[in-house]
Amino acid sequence: MKTGYKNSKLPVFRRVEDLLGRMTRDEKLAQLHLIMNPLEEYEESKRMIRENGVGSFLLYRPVLHLKELNELQRIAAKESRLGIPVLHGRDVIHGFRTIFPIPLGLAATWDKAAIEKSCAIAAKEAMSAGVHWTFAPMVDIARDPRWGRIAESFGEDPYLCSILAAAAVFGIQGKTAKDLAGPEHILACAKHYIGYGAAEGGRDYNTAEISDNTLRNVYLPPFQAAIKAGAATVMAAFHDLNGEPVSGSRYLCTGLLKEECGFEGFIVSDAGSVYNMINQRVARDKSNAGRIAFNAGVDMEMVEGGSCFRNYLGEWIDKGVVSEERLDDAVGRILAVKFRAGLFENPYIDTGSAKRVFFTGYNRGQAKKIAAQSIVLLKNDRDALPLPVKLQKIAVVGPLADKRRALLGSWVLDQKEEDTQTISEAVARACPGAGVTTVSDLLQDDLFIRIKEADAVIAAVGEYHRRSGEHNNVSSLKLAAGQEELIERAALFGKPLVVVVFAGRPLDLSRISRYADALLYAWHPGSLGAAALADILFGKVNPQARCPVSFPSSTGQVPLHYSHKSWGKRKRPPRYLDSPTSPLYPFGYGLSYTRFSYSAIKATPSKIKPREKVTISAKVTNTGTRAGVETVQCYIQDCLTSLTRPARELKGFQKVRLKPGESKKVAFRLGFDELSFVGLDRVRKVEPGTFKAWIGGDSMAGLECEFEVIA
Ligand code: BGC
Repeated sequence: MKTGYKNSKLPVFRRVEDLLGRMTRDEKLAQLHLIMNPLEEYEESKRMIRENGVGSFLLYRPVLHLKELNELQRIAAKESRLGIPVLHGRDVIHGFRTIFPIPLGLAATWDKAAIEKSCAIAAKEAMSAGVHWTFAPMVDIARDPRWGRIAESFGEDPYLCSILAAAAVFGIQGKTAKDLAGPEHILACAKHYIGYGAAEGGRDYNTAEISDNTLRNVYLPPFQAAIKAGAATVMAAFHDLNGEPVSGSRYLCTGLLKEECGFEGFIVSDAGSVYNMINQRVARDKSNAGRIAFNAGVDMEMVEGGSCFRNYLGEWIDKGVVSEERLDDAVGRILAVKFRAGLFENPYIDTGSAKRVFFTGYNRGQAKKIAAQSIVLLKNDRDALPLPVKLQKIAVVGPLADKRRALLGSWVLDQKEEDTQTISEAVARACPGAGVTTVSDLLQDDLFIRIKEADAVIAAVGEYHRRSGEHNNVSSLKLAAGQEELIERAALFGKPLVVVVFAGRPLDLSRISRYADALLYAWHPGSLGAAALADILFGKVNPQARCPVSFPSSTGQVPLHYSHKSWGKRKRPPRYLDSPTSPLYPFGYGLSYTRFSYSAIKATPSKIKPREKVTISAKVTNTGTRAGVETVQCYIQDCLTSLTRPARELKGFQKVRLKPGESKKVAFRLGFDELSFVGLDRVRKVEPGTFKAWIGGDSMAGLECEFEVIA
């Protein structure tokens, strides 16, 4: 043991203090640096570690290079002056080797346990490949499906997104300090702070304008929830918000995040978001970009385009423009995170563990279960689904019928494509006796002959994985050319027509929903997605997923979300002349193979004080013939407020499993957190007056009661 800071019995702040006291300025600056792919310049990386150490590496294909990664850590431990380990980061977004549904699909489960589980499995697999830190969860509120990164989000609603953000952090980091330092959990990074999902025109990286009030009531809560759950790091976004690049905003990074929200971890820039400030024309050059971002509160620079921190901050410190205290603050935050992650105790990868934890039976089982929970049944006329297993001939048609990679979605890096079944293969496996024909070419001329011969048609349409995710925006939410025509013509044959849509965003389904007998929205469901879908198609599993976003009936409706304000003139929705104003499928909506009804809503007590709690309860009954899981949702409206407030806001949800004929009472306790909002004075408060509450199966729930908050 070389020095006192290695003594893990000391509290983290003492170890940080001790280590900071020994560091030279160059060693401190080196900790602020996140270098992309050390393996590309392996010898240079070793040299840099030996010289002054390195803050972090962003790994590409880590699993192929476990020995090399261990060698880098060995050099850091034994050949650098202070033995500070390097943090290995990687984007582990919805699975590592076992791929789960895209985050928007995960959100459709409305199940925090499922999200925690998927993130925990991903963390454990990633850890065994030497990853200490993932750039997840993305907790941006997303209300514009043109934006490709809606796929990586938990959707449009601050309440749902906050609950799921916390669950993701718990899954990634574990719930205790011991979990985080142990061999199964890694560091999380809540991103992209803040307002990144509000990019103008849905174009990724674009400018956003969000009032301070909306920022605090809508965009901030998921970050607060992630921080409360312990998220060790936050990523500052690329874009400019209200006239300032976020990565250069002292108000957003230091004022709001560190001081007001009490964030104690470190802020990492997005890839090149410091350098970007030159393109955004608020920084003259790299040196000034570094100064602005560092003084704003960004602690570590993810370098792309050239290093702005490591090479230049020293000069600014000499000039007294950047303070030594600020340098110590940033380095201290980074070191504290390295200590919390247990890196000083064990920086090495057990090179044999990947084999034991990758794509195990357990992981596959969970991926299948969670994928099945994420697939939304949007339409099921005359109980077209489930399909009987005894069908003789099934035609699986459409461009995604025989695709593997597309089902995995965007942002997957360490999977094996061949582990994923196609839809056609999964259908054939689920119905061993049936003849399954697959026609994935839209232009193949025997397509309609196959449809004519079949007992049922499954059309697999939607988007390839490359059509959503970073930088992949669209100007139209319609299905790609030919897909709507395929479905319209397939419907002419009068065979049961099941349409399955795979996509990274809610698409405009207004045309195909008219022709499909049943419509399933499968998102990009992951490695076991096809198998999960087959379970739903043939009734082994009863669907239970719910829309985490509103499905627009036309592209022109977006941005669209259920929690709009109340309308003034004529009290009617502001209209379009050429499109409905309501969504095609509302937030919270999703069908089951059984039916549920609601009754007996009640608020108890009917009057409360601002700091007291009210219980909203109702009875939910399974009125169908199958067992099923209902996602019971509770919405409120604060009826008279000093600011315009949403007409409805989700404030609770619960999954209830019911047998046919069975009823249960479901209750939601609402208190200050649920009934309050942040006013123009930036103070969170509950305003006395009448509140309405609804309980039901989606955001249009009609069963209503009232209660009073008295001063
Ligand atoms: C993305 C981040 C990602 C980072 C590192 C950036 O382009 O915006 O979400 O974590 O790259 O891969």
